[in-house]
Amino acid sequence: MSVTALLGLQWGDEGKGKMVDALGSDLDIVVRAQGGANAGHTVRVGETTRVLHLIPSAMLNGHVLGVIGNGVVVDPLTLVRELDALAASGVLVEDRLVLGERAHLVLPWHQALDEAMEIARGAAAIGTTKRGIGPAYMDKAARNGIPAAWLTRPKEFAQRVREDLEQKNLMLRALGAKALDADTFLPGLLAVAARLAPRVADSVGLLLDAEEQGKRILIEGAQGALLDLDLGSYPFVTSSNCHMGGLLAGSGLPPRSVGRVIAVAKAYCTRVGAGPFPTEDCGAVGEGLRRRGHEFGSTTGRPRRCGWFDIVAARFAARTNGVTEIALTKADVLTGEPVVKLCTAYEVDGVRTTDFPGAALERAKPVYEEFEGWSDDLTGHRDSDALPQALQVLIKRIEVGTGVPVTLVSTGPERSQTVLRSRSA
Ligand code: IMP
Repeated sequence: MSVTALLGLQWGDEGKGKMVDALGSDLDIVVRAQGGANAGHTVRVGETTRVLHLIPSAMLNGHVLGVIGNGVVVDPLTLVRELDALAASGVLVEDRLVLGERAHLVLPWHQALDEAMEIARGAAAIGTTKRGIGPAYMDKAARNGIPAAWLTRPKEFAQRVREDLEQKNLMLRALGAKALDADTFLPGLLAVAARLAPRVADSVGLLLDAEEQGKRILIEGAQGALLDLDLGSYPFVTSSNCHMGGLLAGSGLPPRSVGRVIAVAKAYCTRVGAGPFPTEDCGAVGEGLRRRGHEFGSTTGRPRRCGWFDIVAARFAARTNGVTEIALTKADVLTGEPVVKLCTAYEVDGVRTTDFPGAALERAKPVYEEFEGWSDDLTGHRDSDALPQALQVLIKRIEVGTGVPVTLVSTGPERSQTVLRSRSA
């Protein structure tokens, strides 16, 4: 059981990048298993803030091997841009990166289709990141996708791109979008393919062997449990399984290998894009959280919708994913709020419930418990007992409500601003 899985407990943007990075010194291998460049994992080390979209965050720890697993959809152009940006600032990860041969490629037509499909949805738009994620997974599920293994066979790859583009252009035109011309992007794509080809390998075999050898492996989930394709608020979800099941299928690791399932949750909630969000606060509280928490999308720059922590949703995510511990982030953003609220139940059609509804989520009204706030600056804290009493009470209520211990509290963006709590706390 040398594998730890880390996933988002809410609608993404929980601060997974920071937590993965903080765990990095105890790891041998970090794996991304689902999603793609729609993710934006922010890591701050010292004065430098980095946003990683495809490269696993724990790779910023110099010894850790990074794997982009079979479940990820990979835009090779974005991946190389990210490698170059890191190299330009002296962070060399390319030789430690493995690109799973089964991972599917996101190609220029996927982004064009993502955009065209969103426009066609009109008022029912999902608010996707326009990174081509949905269309790439559509092709994968339809058995039309192009796995990364093709990057190692340039001639066949070029031929395949030209053939597939004919089909995709029909779709683009039908959606009223402009057709793409292969000659405008193919030379660049082939150059990137040649660069990435040595990185392409059987990531599944590698991970299975590493697990049997007792190597310490972390699966770095992307997005969040409530954006999961099956368990999220469909259709306002992403196109992958951000659920534990997706982390396993997307890495090839067996369920019995996982010892810890760490869920990262913000001390409040945010959501980007459309879809139900019972605790959203469209007034001064939400505005304050957005400003103090810098709640603007790290991939798209969009302002995030903000509101109070939702125990009903968190409990559902914890139960469905078998979460063993919660890492609570951005508690410092609540500092100064005179009253902090937790949503501990919903009222749906006049009936009070602590169960997370499916289709009725859009009619769910939050029922709040109110807690005293705190004004102490949390940023210097390293010791859990020294955290303000009011915050400890809040954490206890989250533990009771979700049924899961909070073992880590993040009190600021830096790697060092992480407070460990014992499981019995
Ligand atoms: P897509 O994944 O780009 O198709 O977007 C589908 C929905 O998931 C939209 O509401 C996005 O805003 C949301 N989403 C996708 N990736 C992330 C993420 O990494 N953090 C937060 N929301 C995300």
